[in-house]
Amino acid sequence: MANSKPAPSNSKLEIARLEVADIDAAITTIQLAFADDPFADWIYDRSKFSPKRNHASLTIRMKWGMRNGHIYVAHTPERRCAGVAMWVGPQPLEKKQSWDDWCQDWMLWFRQLGMNTRFGRGGLNVKRYYLWKESQAKMQSTVWTNPEGYWFCNILAIHPDCQGKGIGKALMNEVFDIADSEGIPCYLESSKFEPNVKIYEKMKFRFVKDIKCDDGEGTCTLFSMIRDAPGKAIDEESTSESSEGSGKDVDAIIDAAIPA
Ligand SMILES: CC(C)(COP(=O)(O)OP(=O)(O)OC[C@H]1O[C@@H](n2cnc3c(N)ncnc32)[C@H](O)[C@@H]1OP(=O)(O)O)[C@@H](O)C(=O)NCCC(=O)NCCS
Repeated sequence: MANSKPAPSNSKLEIARLEVADIDAAITTIQLAFADDPFADWIYDRSKFSPKRNHASLTIRMKWGMRNGHIYVAHTPERRCAGVAMWVGPQPLEKKQSWDDWCQDWMLWFRQLGMNTRFGRGGLNVKRYYLWKESQAKMQSTVWTNPEGYWFCNILAIHPDCQGKGIGKALMNEVFDIADSEGIPCYLESSKFEPNVKIYEKMKFRFVKDIKCDDGEGTCTLFSMIRDAPGKAIDEESTSESSEGSGKDVDAIIDAAIPA
């Protein structure tokens, strides 16, 4: 297939840009990878969780991501999805949103509105959703200091049968290569402290700060991490901590499992 290449750790897998035909398989992988995710447990009422609504939400998000971001999948020759990574490219911090991006955001919003009208909230705790978005925005305004912006990984999910085989790293390398050549750092918010922070440290991310979302009835924590561009000094203002010494408990999420 065009623009695809073998995943280094498994010659049967190909890594390629997501195509529309891959979306269903990619969503199945995301739903399985996040089935026991503590953030999803916090933000959803699991007894009311609607996989159908979540599927519709992720389909909208992926179609948006195909146009406005970079989505990579690792799949078998039969196109069974072993893993998926979705990235949004860097936006200079001072740059105003372009007209095209503004239109794309509104189109996304209208599609999500249509989905909510059709499927309802599917167990999503709306109050927690907005609390999370607010906490996330606050976090990013604190730790995003690079004027040229960040490559933001907001979905990384490896099928449970395929984890620990180098597929996550191979998927991430697709964007690391671009980011490193541009001299732009990468950013993510991990849904779990253990084992994910250690896994991301292997990919040269450093733990920066945690985001606590607490609505008075339950708390969840997200762990933000930055991967500096090679040769660029670490920002002195950042609040980077060692994962060894942080003593944080598990729990977290990324945009991935969330139907916005
Ligand atoms: C977290 C996740 C994306 C990692 O992808 P993966 O394919 O399992 O990870 P890889 O096999 O590429 O491992 C990358 C590195 O981490 C190491 N690693 C993998 N699992 C590990 C673990 N449980 N503990 C410590 N290190 C681990 C690997 O040895 C490798 O190190 P190396 O470069 O020295 O060889 C994947 O496990 C996953 O989808 N988990 C469930 C959903 C999730 O948490 N998504 C991420 C939300 S932020």
